[in-house]
Amino acid sequence: MVQEDFFKKIVAHCKEYGFIFQSSELYDGLSAVYDYGQNGVELKNNIKEYWWKAMTQLNEEVVGIDSAIFMHPTVWKASGHVDAFNDPLIDNKDSKKRYRADVLIEDHLEKINEKISKEVEKASKRFGDAFDEHQFRTTNVRVLEYAAKIESVTKAFNSALEENDLEKVRQIIIEEGIVCPVSGSRNWTEVRQFNLMFETKLGSVSEGANTVYLRPETAQGIFVNYLNVQKTGRMRIPFGIAQIGKAFRNEIVARQFIFRMREFEQMEMQYFVKPGEELKWFENWREKRMKWHLAMGISPAKYRWHKHDKLAHYANAAFDIEFEFPFGFKELEGIHSRTDYDLTQHQNFSGKKIQFFDNETGESYVPYVVETSVGLDRTFLSLLSAAYSEEQVGDETRVVLNLPAALAPVKVAVLPLVKKDGLPEMARKIMDDLKFDLNCIYEEKDSIGKRYRRQDAIGTPFCITVDHQSLEDNTVTIRYRDDMTQERISTDKLSGIVKSKTDLKNLLTKL
Ligand code: GAP
Repeated sequence: MVQEDFFKKIVAHCKEYGFIFQSSELYDGLSAVYDYGQNGVELKNNIKEYWWKAMTQLNEEVVGIDSAIFMHPTVWKASGHVDAFNDPLIDNKDSKKRYRADVLIEDHLEKINEKISKEVEKASKRFGDAFDEHQFRTTNVRVLEYAAKIESVTKAFNSALEENDLEKVRQIIIEEGIVCPVSGSRNWTEVRQFNLMFETKLGSVSEGANTVYLRPETAQGIFVNYLNVQKTGRMRIPFGIAQIGKAFRNEIVARQFIFRMREFEQMEMQYFVKPGEELKWFENWREKRMKWHLAMGISPAKYRWHKHDKLAHYANAAFDIEFEFPFGFKELEGIHSRTDYDLTQHQNFSGKKIQFFDNETGESYVPYVVETSVGLDRTFLSLLSAAYSEEQVGDETRVVLNLPAALAPVKVAVLPLVKKDGLPEMARKIMDDLKFDLNCIYEEKDSIGKRYRRQDAIGTPFCITVDHQSLEDNTVTIRYRDDMTQERISTDKLSGIVKSKTDLKNLLTKL
Protein backbone atom coordinates (compact mmCIF):
# COMPACT_ATOMS: atom_id res chain seq x y z
CA MET A 1 0.00 0.00 0.00
CA VAL A 2 1.30 3.50 -0.81
CA GLN A 3 2.40 5.12 2.46
CA GLU A 4 0.19 8.16 1.96
CA ASP A 5 -2.88 5.95 1.52
CA PHE A 6 -1.84 3.90 4.53
CA PHE A 7 -1.63 7.04 6.64
CA LYS A 8 -5.06 8.21 5.46
CA LYS A 9 -6.46 4.81 6.43
CA ILE A 10 -5.05 5.11 9.93
CA VAL A 11 -6.52 8.58 10.38
CA ALA A 12 -9.92 7.37 9.13
CA HIS A 13 -9.73 4.26 11.33
CA CYS A 14 -8.99 6.38 14.40
CA LYS A 15 -12.15 8.34 13.79
CA GLU A 16 -14.40 5.44 12.84
CA TYR A 17 -13.48 3.38 15.89
CA GLY A 18 -13.48 6.08 18.57
CA PHE A 19 -9.74 6.57 18.98
CA ILE A 20 -9.24 10.18 17.87
CA PHE A 21 -11.58 12.97 16.77
CA GLN A 22 -10.80 16.40 15.41
CA SER A 23 -11.31 18.91 18.24
CA SER A 24 -14.54 20.94 17.99
CA GLU A 25 -15.53 19.04 14.87
CA LEU A 26 -19.07 20.30 15.32
CA TYR A 27 -17.74 23.77 14.51
CA ASP A 28 -15.56 22.56 11.62
CA GLY A 29 -12.64 21.74 13.86
CA LEU A 30 -9.65 23.48 15.36
CA SER A 31 -6.45 22.95 13.46
CA ALA A 32 -3.81 20.68 15.03
CA VAL A 33 -5.91 20.01 18.13
CA TYR A 34 -7.43 16.56 18.69
CA ASP A 35 -9.69 14.80 21.16
CA TYR A 36 -9.19 11.20 22.23
CA GLY A 37 -12.35 9.10 22.08
CA GLN A 38 -13.56 6.16 24.14
CA ASN A 39 -10.92 3.73 22.84
CA GLY A 40 -8.19 6.32 22.37
CA VAL A 41 -8.27 7.41 25.98
CA GLU A 42 -7.92 3.80 27.20
CA LEU A 43 -4.92 3.17 24.95
CA LYS A 44 -3.38 6.48 25.97
CA ASN A 45 -3.88 5.75 29.68
CA ASN A 46 -2.30 2.32 29.23
CA ILE A 47 0.77 3.83 27.55
CA LYS A 48 1.04 6.34 30.40
CA GLU A 49 0.82 3.58 32.99
CA TYR A 50 3.48 1.58 31.15
CA TRP A 51 5.83 4.58 31.06
CA TRP A 52 5.09 5.65 34.64
CA LYS A 53 5.70 2.20 36.09
CA ALA A 54 8.81 1.66 33.94
CA MET A 55 10.25 4.95 35.16
CA THR A 56 9.18 5.23 38.79
CA GLN A 57 8.30 1.75 40.01
CA LEU A 58 11.20 -0.06 38.37
CA ASN A 59 13.76 2.61 39.27
CA GLU A 60 13.61 3.20 42.98
CA GLU A 61 15.64 6.41 42.65
CA VAL A 62 13.09 7.94 40.25
CA VAL A 63 10.01 9.63 41.70
CA GLY A 64 7.11 11.37 40.00
CA ILE A 65 5.47 14.77 40.28
CA ASP A 66 2.53 16.54 38.69
CA SER A 67 3.31 20.24 38.42
CA ALA A 68 0.90 22.96 37.31
CA ILE A 69 0.65 24.06 33.69
CA PHE A 70 0.85 27.73 34.66
CA MET A 71 4.16 28.80 36.13
CA HIS A 72 5.74 32.08 37.16
CA PRO A 73 6.59 33.97 33.94
CA THR A 74 10.24 34.29 35.01
CA VAL A 75 10.58 30.50 34.71
CA TRP A 76 10.33 30.90 30.94
CA LYS A 77 12.70 33.84 30.90
CA ALA A 78 15.26 31.76 32.84
CA SER A 79 14.78 28.68 30.66
CA GLY A 80 15.41 30.72 27.51
CA HIS A 81 11.95 30.09 26.05
CA VAL A 82 10.89 33.76 26.05
CA ASP A 83 13.90 34.81 24.02
CA ALA A 84 14.71 31.77 21.95
CA PHE A 85 11.79 29.34 21.60
CA ASN A 86 11.16 30.53 18.07
CA ASP A 87 10.46 29.25 14.59
CA PRO A 88 11.64 31.23 11.56
CA LEU A 89 8.55 32.17 9.56
CA ILE A 90 8.08 33.47 6.05
CA ASP A 91 4.91 34.62 4.24
CA ASN A 92 4.04 34.28 0.60
CA LYS A 93 2.69 37.64 -0.56
CA ASP A 94 0.42 36.12 -3.21
CA SER A 95 -1.26 33.29 -1.30
CA LYS A 96 -0.94 35.12 2.07
CA LYS A 97 0.07 31.73 3.49
CA ARG A 98 2.63 31.53 6.27
CA TYR A 99 5.31 28.84 6.38
CA ARG A 100 8.18 27.77 8.56
CA ALA A 101 11.24 28.73 6.56
CA ASP A 102 13.20 25.72 7.86
CA VAL A 103 10.39 23.37 6.82
CA LEU A 104 10.25 24.85 3.30
CA ILE A 105 13.99 24.19 2.97
CA GLU A 106 13.75 20.70 4.51
CA ASP A 107 10.89 19.78 2.15
CA HIS A 108 12.94 21.06 -0.77
CA LEU A 109 15.88 18.87 0.29
CA GLU A 110 13.55 15.92 0.70
CA LYS A 111 12.41 16.37 -2.91
CA ILE A 112 16.03 16.25 -4.09
CA ASN A 113 16.48 13.12 -2.00
CA GLU A 114 13.47 11.58 -3.70
CA LYS A 115 15.08 12.30 -7.08
CA ILE A 116 18.13 10.32 -5.93
CA SER A 117 15.88 7.43 -4.86
CA LYS A 118 14.18 7.48 -8.28
CA GLU A 119 17.53 7.33 -10.07
CA VAL A 120 18.57 4.39 -7.88
CA GLU A 121 15.29 2.62 -8.51
CA LYS A 122 15.53 3.11 -12.27
CA ALA A 123 19.10 1.84 -12.37
CA SER A 124 18.25 -1.13 -10.17
CA LYS A 125 15.54 -2.15 -12.65
CA ARG A 126 17.91 -1.65 -15.60
CA PHE A 127 20.82 -3.68 -14.17
CA GLY A 128 18.84 -6.34 -12.31
CA ASP A 129 20.86 -8.69 -10.10
CA ALA A 130 24.15 -7.14 -11.21
CA PHE A 131 23.18 -3.78 -9.66
CA ASP A 132 25.61 -2.44 -7.05
CA GLU A 133 23.79 0.36 -5.24
CA HIS A 134 26.84 1.65 -3.39
CA GLN A 135 28.85 1.92 -6.58
CA PHE A 136 25.98 3.62 -8.37
CA ARG A 137 25.49 6.18 -5.60
CA THR A 138 29.20 7.00 -5.50
CA THR A 139 29.79 7.26 -9.26
CA ASN A 140 26.60 8.31 -11.07
CA VAL A 141 27.04 11.93 -12.12
CA ARG A 142 23.44 12.98 -11.61
CA VAL A 143 23.20 11.36 -8.16
CA LEU A 144 26.48 13.00 -7.15
CA GLU A 145 25.18 16.39 -8.26
CA TYR A 146 22.00 15.96 -6.23
CA ALA A 147 23.97 14.81 -3.17
CA ALA A 148 26.34 17.78 -3.46
CA LYS A 149 23.36 20.12 -3.67
CA ILE A 150 21.84 18.63 -0.50
CA GLU A 151 25.14 19.00 1.30
CA SER A 152 25.77 22.59 0.27
CA VAL A 153 22.23 23.76 1.08
CA THR A 154 22.27 21.98 4.45
CA LYS A 155 25.60 23.59 5.31
CA ALA A 156 24.44 27.07 4.31
CA PHE A 157 21.18 26.60 6.21
CA ASN A 158 22.88 25.36 9.40
CA SER A 159 25.33 28.22 9.39
CA ALA A 160 22.50 30.74 8.79
CA LEU A 161 20.63 29.34 11.79
CA GLU A 162 23.73 29.30 13.95
CA GLU A 163 24.42 32.94 13.14
CA ASN A 164 20.70 33.71 13.53
CA ASP A 165 20.97 35.32 10.09
CA LEU A 166 17.38 35.30 8.86
CA GLU A 167 18.23 37.17 5.64
CA LYS A 168 20.59 34.31 4.74
CA VAL A 169 17.75 31.82 5.34
CA ARG A 170 15.57 33.87 2.96
CA GLN A 171 18.34 33.94 0.36
CA ILE A 172 18.49 30.14 0.38
CA ILE A 173 14.76 30.01 -0.34
CA ILE A 174 15.12 32.52 -3.20
CA GLU A 175 18.27 30.97 -4.69
CA GLU A 176 16.85 27.46 -4.56
CA GLY A 177 13.74 28.67 -6.39
CA ILE A 178 11.44 27.34 -3.65
CA VAL A 179 7.85 28.22 -4.52
CA CYS A 180 4.74 28.55 -2.36
CA PRO A 181 2.85 25.23 -2.55
CA VAL A 182 -0.44 27.17 -2.83
CA SER A 183 0.26 30.09 -5.21
CA GLY A 184 3.29 28.57 -6.93
CA SER A 185 5.01 31.99 -6.68
CA ARG A 186 8.38 33.06 -5.27
CA ASN A 187 7.03 36.30 -3.92
CA TRP A 188 8.32 35.93 -0.35
CA THR A 189 8.43 38.35 2.58
CA GLU A 190 11.44 38.58 4.88
CA VAL A 191 11.93 35.81 7.48
CA ARG A 192 10.86 36.65 11.06
CA GLN A 193 11.22 34.83 14.34
CA PHE A 194 7.92 33.75 15.90
CA ASN A 195 7.67 32.61 19.51
CA LEU A 196 5.83 29.31 19.93
CA MET A 197 4.51 29.90 23.44
CA PHE A 198 0.83 30.66 24.00
CA GLU A 199 0.25 33.62 26.27
CA THR A 200 -2.65 34.37 28.53
CA LYS A 201 -3.39 36.71 31.45
CA LEU A 202 -3.50 35.81 35.11
CA GLY A 203 -5.92 37.86 37.20
CA SER A 204 -8.32 40.47 35.91
CA VAL A 205 -6.96 43.02 33.47
CA SER A 206 -8.09 45.97 35.59
CA GLU A 207 -5.94 44.74 38.48
CA GLY A 208 -2.89 44.86 36.23
CA ALA A 209 -2.79 41.28 35.02
CA ASN A 210 0.39 39.33 34.53
CA THR A 211 1.22 37.59 31.30
CA VAL A 212 1.62 33.88 31.86
CA TYR A 213 2.42 31.15 29.38
CA LEU A 214 0.94 27.74 28.74
CA ARG A 215 4.00 25.55 29.33
CA PRO A 216 5.71 24.45 26.11
CA GLU A 217 7.39 21.53 27.92
CA THR A 218 6.81 19.79 31.24
CA ALA A 219 10.53 19.74 32.08
CA GLN A 220 10.66 23.20 33.69
CA GLY A 221 8.08 22.08 36.27
CA ILE A 222 10.62 19.44 37.26
CA PHE A 223 13.59 21.82 37.41
CA VAL A 224 11.82 24.33 39.64
CA ASN A 225 10.78 21.52 41.99
CA TYR A 226 14.25 20.00 42.19
CA LEU A 227 14.92 21.31 45.71
CA ASN A 228 11.43 20.48 46.99
CA VAL A 229 11.67 16.87 45.90
CA GLN A 230 15.32 16.40 46.83
CA LYS A 231 14.74 17.73 50.36
CA THR A 232 11.34 16.21 51.16
CA GLY A 233 12.18 12.88 49.52
CA ARG A 234 15.69 12.88 51.08
CA MET A 235 16.94 12.01 47.60
CA ARG A 236 20.62 11.37 47.00
CA ILE A 237 22.31 11.90 43.69
CA PRO A 238 21.86 10.28 41.23
CA PHE A 239 18.07 10.50 41.24
CA GLY A 240 15.32 11.31 38.78
CA ILE A 241 12.00 13.13 38.68
CA ALA A 242 9.40 12.01 36.17
CA GLN A 243 6.30 13.78 34.98
CA ILE A 244 3.51 13.23 32.45
CA GLY A 245 1.52 16.21 31.32
CA LYS A 246 0.17 18.55 28.70
CA ALA A 247 2.39 20.93 26.77
CA PHE A 248 1.35 23.63 24.33
CA ARG A 249 3.09 25.04 21.28
CA ASN A 250 1.72 27.40 18.69
CA GLU A 251 3.01 25.22 15.86
CA ILE A 252 2.81 26.89 12.48
CA VAL A 253 3.30 23.79 10.41
CA ALA A 254 0.53 21.84 12.01
CA ARG A 255 0.08 18.70 10.00
CA GLN A 256 0.58 14.96 10.14
CA PHE A 257 -2.33 14.34 12.46
CA ILE A 258 -1.28 13.82 16.10
CA PHE A 259 2.41 13.95 15.18
CA ARG A 260 2.55 17.73 15.49
CA MET A 261 -0.17 19.21 17.65
CA ARG A 262 -0.70 22.52 19.37
CA GLU A 263 -1.79 20.80 22.58
CA PHE A 264 -0.06 17.51 23.29
CA GLU A 265 1.29 15.36 26.09
CA GLN A 266 4.87 14.67 27.10
CA MET A 267 6.38 12.02 29.36
CA GLU A 268 9.62 13.53 30.64
CA MET A 269 12.25 12.57 33.18
CA GLN A 270 15.17 14.61 34.46
CA TYR A 271 17.95 12.56 35.99
CA PHE A 272 20.21 14.60 38.31
CA VAL A 273 23.82 13.44 38.41
CA LYS A 274 27.24 14.44 39.64
CA PRO A 275 29.09 16.68 37.14
CA GLY A 276 31.50 14.55 35.12
CA GLU A 277 29.27 11.47 35.36
CA GLU A 278 26.62 12.72 32.96
CA LEU A 279 27.83 10.89 29.86
CA LYS A 280 27.83 7.54 31.66
CA TRP A 281 24.21 8.12 32.75
CA PHE A 282 23.34 9.44 29.31
CA GLU A 283 24.39 6.10 27.77
CA ASN A 284 22.55 4.23 30.49
CA TRP A 285 19.28 6.08 29.77
CA ARG A 286 19.68 5.74 26.04
CA GLU A 287 19.81 2.00 26.44
CA LYS A 288 16.88 1.89 28.86
CA ARG A 289 14.67 4.06 26.71
CA MET A 290 15.23 2.05 23.55
CA LYS A 291 14.42 -1.12 25.51
CA TRP A 292 11.15 0.48 26.64
CA HIS A 293 10.09 1.03 23.05
CA LEU A 294 11.22 -2.39 21.86
CA ALA A 295 9.42 -4.19 24.68
CA MET A 296 6.13 -3.19 23.04
CA GLY A 297 6.96 -5.71 20.35
CA ILE A 298 7.25 -3.43 17.31
CA SER A 299 9.96 -4.48 14.84
CA PRO A 300 13.37 -3.01 15.81
CA ALA A 301 13.77 -1.98 12.14
CA LYS A 302 11.14 0.69 12.78
CA TYR A 303 13.44 2.53 15.19
CA ARG A 304 16.73 4.28 14.64
CA TRP A 305 19.05 6.64 16.46
CA HIS A 306 19.65 10.18 15.26
CA LYS A 307 22.72 11.81 16.74
CA HIS A 308 22.61 15.60 17.02
CA ASP A 309 25.79 16.91 15.48
CA LYS A 310 24.75 20.47 16.09
CA LEU A 311 24.17 20.66 19.84
CA ALA A 312 22.19 23.31 21.68
CA HIS A 313 24.63 25.58 23.53
CA TYR A 314 23.78 23.99 26.90
CA ALA A 315 23.93 20.33 25.80
CA ASN A 316 27.00 18.10 25.65
CA ALA A 317 25.34 15.09 24.01
CA ALA A 318 21.97 14.53 22.34
CA PHE A 319 20.30 11.68 20.52
CA ASP A 320 16.77 11.22 19.25
CA ILE A 321 14.96 7.94 18.88
CA GLU A 322 13.30 8.15 15.49
CA PHE A 323 10.39 5.98 14.43
CA GLU A 324 9.35 5.09 10.92
CA PHE A 325 5.93 6.72 10.83
CA PRO A 326 3.83 6.29 7.65
CA PHE A 327 5.39 9.58 6.46
CA GLY A 328 8.98 8.49 7.12
CA PHE A 329 11.46 8.37 10.01
CA LYS A 330 10.73 11.19 12.48
CA GLU A 331 11.56 12.07 16.08
CA LEU A 332 9.72 10.11 18.72
CA GLU A 333 11.87 10.77 21.79
CA GLY A 334 14.79 12.99 22.72
CA ILE A 335 17.53 11.95 25.15
CA HIS A 336 19.70 14.90 26.02
CA SER A 337 22.58 15.62 28.35
CA ARG A 338 21.68 19.17 29.39
CA THR A 339 24.60 19.89 31.76
CA ASP A 340 23.77 22.22 34.68
CA TYR A 341 22.25 24.82 32.36
CA ASP A 342 18.63 24.84 33.56
CA LEU A 343 19.32 24.60 37.30
CA THR A 344 22.01 27.29 37.05
CA GLN A 345 19.65 29.56 35.14
CA HIS A 346 16.95 29.12 37.80
CA GLN A 347 19.54 29.71 40.51
CA ASN A 348 20.59 32.96 38.84
CA PHE A 349 17.09 34.22 38.10
CA SER A 350 15.59 33.27 41.49
CA GLY A 351 18.63 34.27 43.52
CA LYS A 352 18.22 31.02 45.51
CA LYS A 353 20.89 28.39 45.82
CA ILE A 354 19.97 25.22 43.92
CA GLN A 355 22.68 22.77 44.83
CA PHE A 356 23.27 19.31 46.18
CA PHE A 357 25.41 18.88 49.27
CA ASP A 358 27.25 15.59 49.22
CA ASN A 359 27.87 14.85 52.89
CA GLU A 360 30.28 12.05 52.06
CA THR A 361 32.70 14.28 50.19
CA GLY A 362 31.65 17.59 51.73
CA GLU A 363 31.17 19.04 48.23
CA SER A 364 28.29 21.21 47.03
CA TYR A 365 27.47 21.39 43.37
CA VAL A 366 24.73 22.18 40.85
CA PRO A 367 23.78 18.75 39.50
CA TYR A 368 24.04 17.92 35.82
CA VAL A 369 20.92 16.62 34.09
CA VAL A 370 20.19 13.83 31.67
CA GLU A 371 16.73 14.25 30.17
CA THR A 372 14.49 11.70 28.49
CA SER A 373 11.50 13.25 26.76
CA VAL A 374 8.98 11.25 24.77
CA GLY A 375 5.75 12.43 23.18
CA LEU A 376 2.75 10.46 24.41
CA ASP A 377 0.76 11.22 21.26
CA ARG A 378 3.68 10.21 19.04
CA THR A 379 4.03 6.94 20.98
CA PHE A 380 0.31 6.39 20.42
CA LEU A 381 0.77 7.01 16.68
CA SER A 382 3.81 4.73 16.52
CA LEU A 383 1.81 1.92 18.14
CA LEU A 384 -1.23 2.39 15.96
CA SER A 385 0.69 2.59 12.71
CA ALA A 386 2.66 -0.54 13.56
CA ALA A 387 -0.45 -2.38 14.73
CA TYR A 388 -2.82 -1.59 11.85
CA SER A 389 -3.08 -4.37 9.34
CA GLU A 390 -5.46 -5.53 6.64
CA GLU A 391 -5.65 -9.27 6.12
CA GLN A 392 -7.43 -11.29 3.51
CA VAL A 393 -9.70 -13.84 5.22
CA GLY A 394 -11.58 -15.85 2.62
CA ASP A 395 -13.11 -13.25 0.36
CA GLU A 396 -13.25 -10.46 2.92
CA THR A 397 -10.69 -8.11 4.37
CA ARG A 398 -10.14 -8.16 8.10
CA VAL A 399 -8.85 -4.93 9.64
CA VAL A 400 -7.03 -5.73 12.84
CA LEU A 401 -4.98 -3.79 15.35
CA ASN A 402 -2.24 -6.09 16.61
CA LEU A 403 -1.65 -4.03 19.74
CA PRO A 404 0.28 -5.49 22.66
CA ALA A 405 -2.41 -7.18 24.78
CA ALA A 406 -1.34 -5.25 27.88
CA LEU A 407 -1.94 -1.91 26.15
CA ALA A 408 -5.09 -2.74 24.18
CA PRO A 409 -8.00 -0.40 25.07
CA VAL A 410 -10.40 -3.30 25.70
CA LYS A 411 -8.92 -6.52 27.01
CA VAL A 412 -11.88 -8.86 26.71
CA ALA A 413 -15.16 -8.84 24.81
CA VAL A 414 -17.84 -11.06 26.31
CA LEU A 415 -20.33 -12.22 23.68
CA PRO A 416 -23.40 -14.40 24.09
CA LEU A 417 -23.81 -16.38 20.84
CA VAL A 418 -27.52 -15.51 20.71
CA LYS A 419 -29.68 -13.06 22.63
CA LYS A 420 -31.86 -15.71 24.29
CA ASP A 421 -31.95 -19.06 26.11
CA GLY A 422 -30.13 -17.73 29.17
CA LEU A 423 -26.88 -17.00 27.28
CA PRO A 424 -26.96 -13.23 27.94
CA GLU A 425 -27.41 -13.89 31.66
CA MET A 426 -24.41 -16.21 31.81
CA ALA A 427 -22.31 -13.78 29.71
CA ARG A 428 -23.25 -10.91 32.05
CA LYS A 429 -22.13 -12.96 35.02
CA ILE A 430 -18.73 -13.55 33.40
CA MET A 431 -18.45 -9.87 32.57
CA ASP A 432 -19.38 -8.87 36.12
CA ASP A 433 -16.64 -11.10 37.41
CA LEU A 434 -13.93 -9.84 35.04
CA LYS A 435 -14.72 -6.12 35.08
CA PHE A 436 -13.03 -5.47 38.43
CA ASP A 437 -9.65 -6.35 36.94
CA LEU A 438 -9.99 -5.70 33.23
CA ASN A 439 -11.60 -3.30 30.83
CA CYS A 440 -14.27 -5.51 29.21
CA ILE A 441 -17.04 -5.01 26.69
CA TYR A 442 -20.34 -6.85 26.58
CA GLU A 443 -21.96 -7.13 23.14
CA GLU A 444 -24.99 -9.07 22.01
CA LYS A 445 -26.00 -7.20 18.82
CA ASP A 446 -25.23 -8.52 15.30
CA SER A 447 -23.85 -11.84 14.15
CA ILE A 448 -20.90 -13.28 16.06
CA GLY A 449 -18.69 -12.81 12.98
CA LYS A 450 -19.49 -9.09 12.82
CA ARG A 451 -18.84 -8.73 16.53
CA TYR A 452 -15.44 -10.43 16.17
CA ARG A 453 -14.52 -8.02 13.35
CA ARG A 454 -15.48 -4.99 15.45
CA GLN A 455 -13.26 -6.21 18.27
CA ASP A 456 -10.39 -6.93 15.85
CA ALA A 457 -10.65 -3.36 14.60
CA ILE A 458 -10.12 -1.91 18.09
CA GLY A 459 -7.44 -4.45 18.96
CA THR A 460 -9.29 -6.49 21.63
CA PRO A 461 -7.00 -9.47 22.20
CA PHE A 462 -9.65 -11.89 23.52
CA CYS A 463 -13.27 -12.58 22.69
CA ILE A 464 -15.18 -14.91 24.97
CA THR A 465 -18.24 -16.52 23.49
CA VAL A 466 -20.97 -18.04 25.60
CA ASP A 467 -22.97 -20.71 23.72
CA HIS A 468 -25.48 -23.40 24.57
CA GLN A 469 -22.77 -25.84 25.63
CA SER A 470 -21.63 -23.23 28.17
CA LEU A 471 -24.92 -23.67 30.05
CA GLU A 472 -24.35 -27.40 30.26
CA ASP A 473 -20.69 -27.69 31.18
CA ASN A 474 -19.56 -24.23 32.28
CA THR A 475 -17.11 -23.84 29.42
CA VAL A 476 -16.77 -20.97 26.94
CA THR A 477 -14.75 -20.42 23.80
CA ILE A 478 -11.90 -17.97 23.87
CA ARG A 479 -10.89 -16.51 20.50
CA TYR A 480 -7.43 -15.09 19.98
CA ARG A 481 -7.30 -11.90 17.93
CA ASP A 482 -3.97 -12.43 16.19
CA ASP A 483 -4.48 -15.87 14.65
CA MET A 484 -8.27 -16.11 15.13
CA THR A 485 -7.94 -19.58 16.69
CA GLN A 486 -10.43 -20.59 19.34
CA GLU A 487 -10.28 -22.95 22.25
CA ARG A 488 -12.76 -24.17 24.79
CA ILE A 489 -11.96 -23.50 28.39
CA SER A 490 -13.65 -23.83 31.71
CA THR A 491 -15.07 -20.58 33.12
CA ASP A 492 -13.08 -20.99 36.36
CA LYS A 493 -9.84 -20.75 34.37
CA LEU A 494 -10.96 -17.70 32.39
CA SER A 495 -9.98 -14.93 34.72
CA GLY A 496 -6.51 -16.40 35.38
CA ILE A 497 -5.77 -16.82 31.67
CA VAL A 498 -6.85 -13.37 30.48
CA LYS A 499 -5.37 -11.59 33.48
CA SER A 500 -1.97 -13.18 32.96
CA LYS A 501 -1.95 -12.52 29.21
CA THR A 502 -2.93 -8.86 29.54
CA ASP A 503 -0.75 -8.05 32.54
CA LEU A 504 1.49 -5.01 32.09
CA LYS A 505 4.13 -7.10 33.84
CA ASN A 506 4.59 -8.92 30.50
CA LEU A 507 6.13 -5.71 29.13
CA LEU A 508 7.77 -4.48 32.32
CA THR A 509 9.73 -7.70 32.89
CA LYS A 510 11.39 -7.25 29.48
CA LEU A 511 13.02 -4.02 30.64
N1 GAP B 1 12.00 19.03 27.32
C1 GAP B 1 12.54 18.71 26.03
C2 GAP B 1 11.58 18.87 24.96
O1 GAP B 1 10.48 19.35 25.12
P1 GAP B 1 11.27 18.40 22.40
O2 GAP B 1 12.13 17.63 21.44
O3 GAP B 1 10.87 19.78 22.02
O4 GAP B 1 12.06 18.40 23.78
C3 GAP B 1 10.08 16.26 23.27
O5 GAP B 1 9.97 17.56 22.72
C4 GAP B 1 9.10 15.31 22.62
O6 GAP B 1 7.78 15.87 22.67
C5 GAP B 1 9.37 15.08 21.13
O7 GAP B 1 10.33 14.07 20.92
C6 GAP B 1 8.00 14.68 20.64
O8 GAP B 1 7.77 13.30 20.85
C7 GAP B 1 7.05 15.48 21.52
N2 GAP B 1 6.56 16.69 20.82
C8 GAP B 1 7.20 17.86 20.66
N3 GAP B 1 6.43 18.73 19.99
C9 GAP B 1 5.27 18.10 19.72
C10 GAP B 1 4.05 18.48 19.05
N4 GAP B 1 3.89 19.70 18.56
N5 GAP B 1 3.07 17.55 18.95
C11 GAP B 1 3.21 16.32 19.46
N6 GAP B 1 4.33 15.91 20.11
C12 GAP B 1 5.35 16.78 20.24
